[in-house]
Amino acid sequence: MEQTFIMIKPDGVQRGLIGDIISRFEKKGFYLKGMKFMNVERSFAQKHYADLSAQPFFAKLVEYIISGPVVAMVWEGKDVVLTGRRIIGATRPWEAAPGTIRGDYAVEVSRNVIHGSDSVENGKKEIGLWFPDGPSEWKSNLHPWIYEV
Ligand code: PPS
Repeated sequence: MEQTFIMIKPDGVQRGLIGDIISRFEKKGFYLKGMKFMNVERSFAQKHYADLSAQPFFAKLVEYIISGPVVAMVWEGKDVVLTGRRIIGATRPWEAAPGTIRGDYAVEVSRNVIHGSDSVENGKKEIGLWFPDGPSEWKSNLHPWIYEV
């Protein structure tokens, strides 16, 4: 099944939003397949956001990500990349619908609480970077109550 990389950014951790965010993904019917509470090195943050290195906000974004611990996660489920992005809400919090994580909890794009992979391909890349040993392979007994197959 499809997997995505989700990171609760330092502001989400400091503001005590970890439980709420995990709960939203769990209650939806997605499976947590990897989780790490960690501080990120500058070079690692630069690697994660390498595609944005030409953006004027790149340095600021990297400072933000290394400013405190983050929660790195792998979530699995049907269409989890796209649905995960919908649970998170639009990148710019003023465009994020109420009921989404950013719609409920964020004001600034530079403090938008959470990251989610924007494609299946980038999800694989990001999971490979953050979880080099691979995610867990546990199987939920609830699976038939959430998925038809
Ligand atoms: S862009 O501008 O289209 O390249 O960016 P976008 O794809 O919308 O967002 C990519 C990530 O960059 C973050 N971002 C910013 N951070 C700080 N300041 C500003 N102004 C800014 N604009 C975009 C945005 O939150 C995305 O981060 P992730 O972690 O991928 O959600």
